[in-house]
Amino acid sequence: MKKILITGGAGYIGSHTAVELWNAGMEPIILDDFSNSEAKVLDRLEEITGKRFTFYQGDCNDKTVLDSIGKAHQIEGVIHFAAFKAVGESTAKPLKYYKNNVGSLVLLLEFMQEQGIKDLVFSSSCTVYGQPEVLPVTEATPRQEAESPYGNTKKICEDILIDYVKSKPGIRVISLRYFNPVGAHPSSKIGELPLGTPNNLVPFITQVAAGIREKLTVFGADYDTMDGSCVRDYIHVVDLADAHVKAFSFLNQQPENFYDVFNVGTGNGNTVLEVIYAFEKVSGQKLNYVIGPRRPGDVVKTWADTTKIKTVLGWQPKYSLEDSMRDSWNWQKGLK
Ligand code: NAD
Ligand code: UD1
Repeated sequence: MKKILITGGAGYIGSHTAVELWNAGMEPIILDDFSNSEAKVLDRLEEITGKRFTFYQGDCNDKTVLDSIGKAHQIEGVIHFAAFKAVGESTAKPLKYYKNNVGSLVLLLEFMQEQGIKDLVFSSSCTVYGQPEVLPVTEATPRQEAESPYGNTKKICEDILIDYVKSKPGIRVISLRYFNPVGAHPSSKIGELPLGTPNNLVPFITQVAAGIREKLTVFGADYDTMDGSCVRDYIHVVDLADAHVKAFSFLNQQPENFYDVFNVGTGNGNTVLEVIYAFEKVSGQKLNYVIGPRRPGDVVKTWADTTKIKTVLGWQPKYSLEDSMRDSWNWQKGLK
């Protein structure tokens, strides 16, 4: 069985990807320092798959940890999820973000070279596009200056990968630019675990519905959009996980020194109010929300053109926005 190292594999997207890799006949080897996740995720993964995944608790900026994994396993591919992702914190603590998000990629590439590991899938973000001038966003849409140090780490990591592949190290790399990951595993055993007050829309909605927060503020309803609220492309996390599986199957057939980038979204834009209505429909309850001021720096509208990932990787999303809301809500209800 092909062994795939998943850095950040106990996190939100990494844990769902571990399940999909296993379902596709690959064996995840997980490395996580639990800086933004919990050990119980590993039990949950076992409950879902019937397999206790090999796990290393450690920092992927620590070469000795990587070396010990390389010694114990013949790793054939890597997915690099491990990163810090709080946009606001990245502005207050930029070095923390550059060190973890950029530093870990450089170390991982050195590790891959030493071990002769060829295939890498990197977690990038639609944040690299900023507010695009033309919609939907294709992979050829120009990237813009990052709004935050977090966003800049994604841009820098993409550039590092481009430069590195150009130097002909013999590897094959795909950067996946995620749009807005939402939802949870349909089993409700794994999902997103935001620390403190969520910044993202969907965990905020589910916490309001669960009575943890009083109300949701919609950040602006006076934009030039269908109903005045901002537009995003909300992609179910299981569909997103499946894109990683497809990326590996594709990389396997590519020549050495290959680099490419793919959008991962549904191809549909939904407003904040549409997300709220979808949530109300599947949960059967009214959400307490108010229309508030715009959030500074917010992108007004963005959604993915998914032609490339559909035609080249043969991937397509299976879950609807309502499915995502249902799974997010079931996951929230199961949290203590
Ligand atoms: P997450 O915080 O749930 O998962 C990241 C995991 O990495 C956590 O379990 C954390 O403990 C671990 N980690 C962080 N630094 C580490 C280190 N140095 N060593 C070992 N483990 C470490 O985040 P997520 O939502 O699953 O995001 C995964 C990746 O996708 C990140 O690179 C993120 O920037 C990117 N991304 C996320 C989103 C999103 O909205 N969730 C959107 C676009 C891109
Ligand atoms: C966030 C990140 C971005 C990341 C993206 C992917 C910020 C500034 N940006 O952006 O780097 O790539 O997630 O997941 O955090 N909203 C409300 N009320 C709320 C929360 C959100 O109305 O309480 C609205 C926002 O204005 C936005 C939409 O909901 O229109 C989605 O917001 P959010 O979940 O924060 O995602 P992004 O803004 O896309």
